[in-house]
Amino acid sequence: ASSVENDLVDILFTEEQILEKLDEMARRIEADYEGQELLVVGVLRGAIMVMADLSRALTRHVETDWMAVSSYGSGTKSSGVVRILKDLDTDISGKHVLVVDEIIDTGLTLSWLISNLTSRGPASVEIATLLRKPEALAMPVTPKYVGWDIPNEFVVGYGLDYQERYRNLRCIGTLAPHVYS
Ligand code: PRP
Ligand code: MG
Repeated sequence: ASSVENDLVDILFTEEQILEKLDEMARRIEADYEGQELLVVGVLRGAIMVMADLSRALTRHVETDWMAVSSYGSGTKSSGVVRILKDLDTDISGKHVLVVDEIIDTGLTLSWLISNLTSRGPASVEIATLLRKPEALAMPVTPKYVGWDIPNEFVVGYGLDYQERYRNLRCIGTLAPHVYS
């Protein structure tokens, strides 16, 4: 029987490292939003693992909601087309909003999302991302919380997919070449 993890050439972050990082992030979020109501918004689908673990690391009350956007309008991300596939169920006007995603690559998704959410009149909008690829960044996105900066390599696991597979890995790693061929 073949294990999914056999398809990885390298494990970048283990489950333990990820949970420790999200725990640190949760402590900072608790300090920064002390005394304020907070709405945490996950970006489907990649952010589901980060949302599950980061929100459970928080020991305070939060509201949670979800958005789904498509940034592959006509083929590639460079098309720059972002569409809302599922909008928030919550009215965010006057609320402190923290958008949670698992990776900032080009920044297209979150730069568009932040300007869209800002137009709804929230008290504040900030970003928490587990991973960021500084070399790939093409749009102005300044997350308040970043787990790790990583090189511009293709990574999978913990919500990140390659052709819709590998999202269910507990760790984050780089794909072995035999997977492509
Ligand atoms: C991925 C990832 C981020 C986004 C980052 O989502 O989950 O949301 O791309 O890339 P960017 O910074 O270049 O916009 P994707 O749109 O692939 O959908 P998914 O979350 O359903 O996997
Ligand atoms: Mg995504």
